[in-house]
Amino acid sequence: MKKFTNVNKAVFPVAGLGTRFLPATKAQPKEMLPVVDKPLIQYAVEEAYDAGIRHMIFVTGRNKRAIEDHFDTAYELETELEASGKKELLDLVRSLSPADMDCSYVRQPRSLGLGHAVLCARHIVNDEPFAVLLADDLMCGPDNGPGVLTQMVEVFKEVQTSVLAVQEVPADHVKRYGIVAGDKVGDRLVKIKQMVEKPSPDKAPSRLGVAGRYVLTPEVFDRIANQTRGSGGEIQLTDGIAQLIGTEGVHAYMYEGKRYDCGSKDGFLEASVAFALKHPEVGPAFREYLRGLKIS
Ligand code: UTP
Repeated sequence: MKKFTNVNKAVFPVAGLGTRFLPATKAQPKEMLPVVDKPLIQYAVEEAYDAGIRHMIFVTGRNKRAIEDHFDTAYELETELEASGKKELLDLVRSLSPADMDCSYVRQPRSLGLGHAVLCARHIVNDEPFAVLLADDLMCGPDNGPGVLTQMVEVFKEVQTSVLAVQEVPADHVKRYGIVAGDKVGDRLVKIKQMVEKPSPDKAPSRLGVAGRYVLTPEVFDRIANQTRGSGGEIQLTDGIAQLIGTEGVHAYMYEGKRYDCGSKDGFLEASVAFALKHPEVGPAFREYLRGLKIS
């Protein structure tokens, strides 16, 4: 079998409707909602870049133009900042698209599910392993440690199978996740034997829930393409990956770090507080502000 040495491409499915965040997401993508001063999609792109990935592929839909604009040159803004001598801001704006980073955009014409969104990127990914990042899962590596996708790429190079980020979730939350179960083969590594999308608590084979980070082999495209519609009438990514379990094998990796579910209001608020507290500019004053709140 061909040995995979690197992961060079990342797919960002951003074509969902974001109904849990209405009305904020009526006319703008949820991936552009800022946590402190950066949109969610930028955190995810930076995580992929830090993992050595240089080709970012966005699967977009209607109302998602702001994402393309965010990673494009902002000619008028840059000219204005240059003319007014605001060099720091100019550097900040330019740093969003480093010269060695390529962006591609592909449309998902209808929201037919995450699996379908990933399939829309097939002709750009081709026959290579690739990462999938769901930007509404905001992932934080350990303090001063590697990001979650960096950890996963290392694991992928070692195990040479698809790798899914997992975390233990409370029993009453299993119905929100893809749940995996299998044999523990390392400190943080499980060889998956079983995978179920959004099971009820009594049918869940474990409490290991899949988070929004994947490193996948290109074989998954055929598996997604050949499946029938799964849970909720959508083409599920989990169902496609599940078909690799008995052939190539799939590993679950219990990542080091923390996940904020920014697709939900409470997760988004938690992330905003956590990121504000460690923000170099606003952190110290915000901490003082929180200390002074008299919350009953
Ligand atoms: P979600 O399940 O969070 O769906 O999708 P959603 O539509 O974005 O949000 P809600 O549930 O209505 O509030 C998980 C990820 O998959 C993408 C979404 O953009 C999100 O990043 N997705 C989902 C697509 O790109 N296309 C789809 O058809 C469905």
